[in-house]
Amino acid sequence: MKNTEGTEAAKRAAGEAAAAEVADGDRVGLGTGSTAAHAIRDLGERVAEGLDIEGVATSYQSRALAREAGIPLASLSDVARVDVAIDGADQAAPESNALVKGGGAAHAREKVVASAADEFLVVADDSKLADPLDHPVPVEVLSDAVARVERALRDAGGDPTLREAERKDGPVITDNGNLVLDCEFGAIDAPASLARTLSGTPGVVEHGLFVGLADELYVGEADGAVAVRSLK
Ligand code: 5RP
Repeated sequence: MKNTEGTEAAKRAAGEAAAAEVADGDRVGLGTGSTAAHAIRDLGERVAEGLDIEGVATSYQSRALAREAGIPLASLSDVARVDVAIDGADQAAPESNALVKGGGAAHAREKVVASAADEFLVVADDSKLADPLDHPVPVEVLSDAVARVERALRDAGGDPTLREAERKDGPVITDNGNLVLDCEFGAIDAPASLARTLSGTPGVVEHGLFVGLADELYVGEADGAVAVRSLK
């Protein structure tokens, strides 16, 4: 489900520009994926120079990266709010402040951290912009509920596919021990309404539509330029 069109330079520019907003004393939500990874590495370099922050990881991947970068960590289970969260997106529609996330299957924890943040900064390369959203929506599902949720997603106009692992036989298992259905809805003209439908489906742990959560969108370009848009 990864969108791989964006250049590394564009991702780096977006990630580092957002990381520059982090201040001494902040508790920082650390997103998952290749764009958020640039922010984490940049923060690690600033920590080595004396920046005093505490990170809250959104996945096994971001925790490992933060440890490698030397960022002190707090456990998500102990944290009710963070000052700023920085995370990527698979697609972003700025006009409706809506994102599709979950390409790395980390969207359940990512949404907890984003919703706990005073400021949620989204970092993306310019290939991620879309209006309306039309990327398949990742839906994390209890394994025993897959058949039931697949049927509910079809009733809601979707076409779900169980996400398969790449270097393991069988499906992707999330950091929370669940499965992921990637659900094609075509053009998503009413993301808030679809988000409510998905949230109200028994067996759905979390879906990758993030509506109204982001405060700022950092869009990086291949030449290193970054456009910052306020979404509130
Ligand atoms: C992981 C995510 C990622 O933030 C999203 O997939 C974007 O990743 P990348 O920056 O590598 O394109 O939601 O669950």
